[in-house]
Amino acid sequence: MDTEVVEFLNTLGEAERAGGRVLHELEQAASSLELKELLRKAGHDEGYWAGQIGAHIRRLGAEPSNKTGDFVEKVRALTDLRSKIELLNRGQRWVIRKIEERLPSLSDAPLKAFLVVMAKGHQTNIQAIDDALKSGPL
Ligand SMILES: [Fe+2]
Repeated sequence: MDTEVVEFLNTLGEAERAGGRVLHELEQAASSLELKELLRKAGHDEGYWAGQIGAHIRRLGAEPSNKTGDFVEKVRALTDLRSKIELLNRGQRWVIRKIEERLPSLSDAPLKAFLVVMAKGHQTNIQAIDDALKSGPL
């Protein structure tokens, strides 16, 4: 078992759980029905990724952390919905960066494939939510 890889995956898993929680809260706060749908979909994606990360950690012979990242509190501390959503997207970009930094040193092919798809999914969700931020009332 590669403890460094497991540690990296636990960090990502905690970030995804935090993202899922944040997205749920943002969905409740949003008024635009289209934005609500986007946030709900992105939240489900975060839950899916957190679950898959847990499965990879188990496959590697370790027990996944069930902690949630402190990102939730950072978003809660902001009062304005737009700022919260912008911070969410910055957090999502951080996840992509972490994955991209790590990919070259990973040798586990199924894990690499999963992380590539997870990074692309983040890109898609960031773009869709950015577009909604530009297109009108939230
Ligand atoms: Fe995420």
